[in-house]
Amino acid sequence: MAILLFLLFSRTIATVSAFIATTPAKSDSFTPPDNYLIDCGSSSQTTLPDRRIFSSDSASSQYLQYHGREIAVVDLSADVPLPIYKSAKVFNCEATYSFRVTKTGWHWVRLHFFPIGNNEFKLQETKFTVVAMDTLVLLHKHSPNGLEMQEYLMNVTSERLNLRFCGKKDSPAFVNAIEVVSAPDMVITDSSSALFPVGKKIEGMTKYSYQKMYRLNVGGVTIGPGNDTLGRTWNSDEKFLKPPSAAKNISITPNVVTYLEGGSPLIAPPTVYASAMVMGTSNTIAPNFNVTWQFDLDKSFPYLIRLHFCDIVSKALNELYFNVYIGGKIAVSALDLSSITNGLSVAYYHDVFVEPPMISNPFFVQVGPLNAPMGTKNAILNGLEILRINNSVNSLDGEFGADGRSATGPGRGTVAAVGFAMMFGAFAGLGAMAVKWQKRPQDWQKKNSFSSWLLPLHAGDASFLASSKRTSLGSKKSAFYASTQGLGRYLSFAELQDATKNWDSNSVIGIGGFGNVYLGVLEDGTKVAVKRGNPQSEQGINEFQTELQMLSKLRHRHLVSLIGYCDENSEMILVYEFMEHGPLRDHLYGKNLPTVSWKQRLEICIGAARGLHYLHTGSATAIIHRDVKTTNILLDENFTAKMADFGLSKDVGMGEAHVSTAVKGSFGYLDPEYFRKQQLTDKSDVYSFGVVLLEVLCARSAIDPTLPREQVNLAEWAMQWKRKGLLDKIIDPNLVGKINPESMNKYAEAAEKCLAEYGVDRPTMGDVLWNLEYALQLQDQGKPEEGGGSGGSGGGSALANAAPLAPAIDNRPVMTPAQASQNPAEVQAIEDHSGTAMFAQYGNLNGR
Ligand SMILES: *[C@@H]1O[C@H](CO)[C@@H](O)[C@H](O)[C@H]1NC(C)=O
Ligand SMILES: *[C@@H]1O[C@H](CO)[C@@H](O)[C@H](O)[C@H]1NC(C)=O
Ligand SMILES: *[C@@H]1O[C@H](CO)[C@@H](O)[C@H](O)[C@H]1NC(C)=O
Ligand SMILES: *[C@@H]1O[C@H](CO)[C@@H](O)[C@H](O)[C@H]1NC(C)=O
Ligand SMILES: *[C@@H]1O[C@H](CO)[C@@H](O)[C@H](O)[C@H]1NC(C)=O
Ligand SMILES: *[C@@H]1O[C@H](CO)[C@@H](O)[C@H](O)[C@H]1NC(C)=O
Repeated sequence: MAILLFLLFSRTIATVSAFIATTPAKSDSFTPPDNYLIDCGSSSQTTLPDRRIFSSDSASSQYLQYHGREIAVVDLSADVPLPIYKSAKVFNCEATYSFRVTKTGWHWVRLHFFPIGNNEFKLQETKFTVVAMDTLVLLHKHSPNGLEMQEYLMNVTSERLNLRFCGKKDSPAFVNAIEVVSAPDMVITDSSSALFPVGKKIEGMTKYSYQKMYRLNVGGVTIGPGNDTLGRTWNSDEKFLKPPSAAKNISITPNVVTYLEGGSPLIAPPTVYASAMVMGTSNTIAPNFNVTWQFDLDKSFPYLIRLHFCDIVSKALNELYFNVYIGGKIAVSALDLSSITNGLSVAYYHDVFVEPPMISNPFFVQVGPLNAPMGTKNAILNGLEILRINNSVNSLDGEFGADGRSATGPGRGTVAAVGFAMMFGAFAGLGAMAVKWQKRPQDWQKKNSFSSWLLPLHAGDASFLASSKRTSLGSKKSAFYASTQGLGRYLSFAELQDATKNWDSNSVIGIGGFGNVYLGVLEDGTKVAVKRGNPQSEQGINEFQTELQMLSKLRHRHLVSLIGYCDENSEMILVYEFMEHGPLRDHLYGKNLPTVSWKQRLEICIGAARGLHYLHTGSATAIIHRDVKTTNILLDENFTAKMADFGLSKDVGMGEAHVSTAVKGSFGYLDPEYFRKQQLTDKSDVYSFGVVLLEVLCARSAIDPTLPREQVNLAEWAMQWKRKGLLDKIIDPNLVGKINPESMNKYAEAAEKCLAEYGVDRPTMGDVLWNLEYALQLQDQGKPEEGGGSGGSGGGSALANAAPLAPAIDNRPVMTPAQASQNPAEVQAIEDHSGTAMFAQYGNLNGR
């Protein structure tokens, strides 16, 4: 009954969708200019049940060029599905069928074989080769050991199409029937998309020749040549489903299927699109599995995989998003049929070009639900074609070309030939042929009961669904939008793939523990930094979630902002505004970038301090960054500083007592008190910021193990000089003589306070900000001028900003460690924690 209801519903939708650039499946018929149907060895013409008439191939055949003894074998009592298999022509030397081509272009060539029993020849054992157009090997030493029909599609460019049967005395060739029929140009378009790199556009598909391996009417019954727009056979997919219980067939009446403008029933008839397989338990608790079809393929050929889709399962647009996998690799990520077809029950197909390294045997085509909080959890496939493409020596069978060349290269002929002979036996048994009358096993439904194989798969996703209790479409959508509030937009994996040139290694601008950071360009031209998590990294998952949570509530001029995210297919991808000038550190040392002036450095420090001040005081709960360092301060095109990388950040609400105290951060920046007491407060950030101030002043790293022992730790070393009043002796040589001494003093004072042994003695970020603003004024004017507000980085007086906000921090209770017993040895040095390495290749970037 559910299906009935659904049927009615989808029909109404389809009617509506017909207004949107689609055309109903009207009689888009094609009359082939060339249409040769030959019943070889028969003395009279033969009419098939589908009313096609095969003409006789008598001794004086106008098509056959043959100089041997003509032999026809006939067995009128043969148990064959079609009368054309009751007779065959046998050739014990080379014979050529030659057909005049009235219109060049695509032609089907179908060869029918059935080794008829007779007294003279053992047709079951003979092996022979068939070559088309003198160069294209269709069959190589092939032995049809049962009834088979081989179908080819070739672009004929000459006025004759020759089919050469290479028979020998001891190994004759035979054929029962031949079809040579024109196909419309549209059957193969010149471009296709590659399986790897995913989606890469492949041109030149019209130069290849094809052999049909599989053509399936998924979820439906076999469609015979008489019911196909181009005389093709579409087999039922049942026997390829692994396991069959993962899928459920659905169907609508074919006449509601519409085609996109430019689409045509010639690609596949409406009956193919009107049936489909969807996920077997899509409407139960938490379906999370693929619907899988399994095939046998020869690994040495490229293939064209044509996927036919038609959304006959959704009740409304934009409900269905799913993934398509080919050979275990993602082929289409988050396929959104609605956005392509603008309607339901609209036919759509997608071609994927798969090269030999991606072919496995067995070979799988899978559709599965999108692991994202949108749409319904389901996936669909309506039709599937797998076409073999000729190899480099223009063969569709085996490695040898018509001229004897081997596809695996010269000099390997004999070895390869032996290998081939062995492989050959296997190939014959592959069942790659259309055996359309084969009965499906009666017990297929009994095998693989649901519960036995589905349960473990459910487990992984249960928590998600339980938490968002999605019962109807409306609540599903609202759950989705609510969860994404503040997270910028949801970017599809495909979109990000485009933006990063399919994760091109040349787009990598940083490598870190979390994964890689890529420079991406969105469709609208916006440059973004795309941080793609490495799913293997446990640390990565936690930090991804933390960062997402943090950024979702933060928005500030001095915090790097999140543009969007993607968590499709268990991916963890965060997309940020692109910071043109990369990390502050690169402008201080190690990268030979132009020197940054003292004033500019002050402005950068002020910007970063503002960002931190906002983190500490700007929202209801204080946020401790926990990883303040020069690589986490990024600079945009105008050198505006922004704090980045909130992966370690801690949210420490006033009322909350539980703060994980595992000491995390980067060596050289780590607050010694936090390290000792494992008590995390905002003053830990202040300490780290003090180290940053010294780094900016001295242009050296916080920890430099190559230096003499007493100099390794910048904070300790610089404070010794500060206490001696000689800090100016160790500053960046580029700054010598360029800093106003008063500015220098104020700055050094601020740094020293930040580095105080005890947190209580350290200033708040608000105080630090005030001091830096002051230092900037001193630099600008040579004398202090309070409230001048000349700071280049944000206008407005720091005094005014800082004063009212600061007390909020000072009164904050010190956090109680949740696990005070935690061993300090557990310090996680994360020197390379994203930031450092994040823009490591930033220098290269400029060079490109
Ligand atoms: C057949 O191949 C020729 C030569 O490669 C090409 O120009 C032509 O467009 C192809 N025909 C079709 C119908 O694709
Ligand atoms: C075509 O389809 C009709 C209806 O499904 C069926 O009765 C008929 O046998 C089919 N004809 C062929 C040639 O497959
Ligand atoms: C599913 O397939 C079975 C067997 O082929 C058929 O009897 C049934 O009608 C199909 N269901 C739908 C909804 O098409
Ligand atoms: C679906 O298949 C792909 C490729 O084989 C695999 O990576 C993915 O994990 C599968 N998805 C599920 C939910 O099993
Ligand atoms: C198929 O044969 C054509 C013509 O010889 C050739 O141009 C093409 O490269 C071959 N295909 C492949 C995949 O090598
Ligand atoms: C940089 O400054 C220019 C000029 O003031 C402004 O147009 C541009 O938007 C700024 N860029 C950023 C990223 O803020």
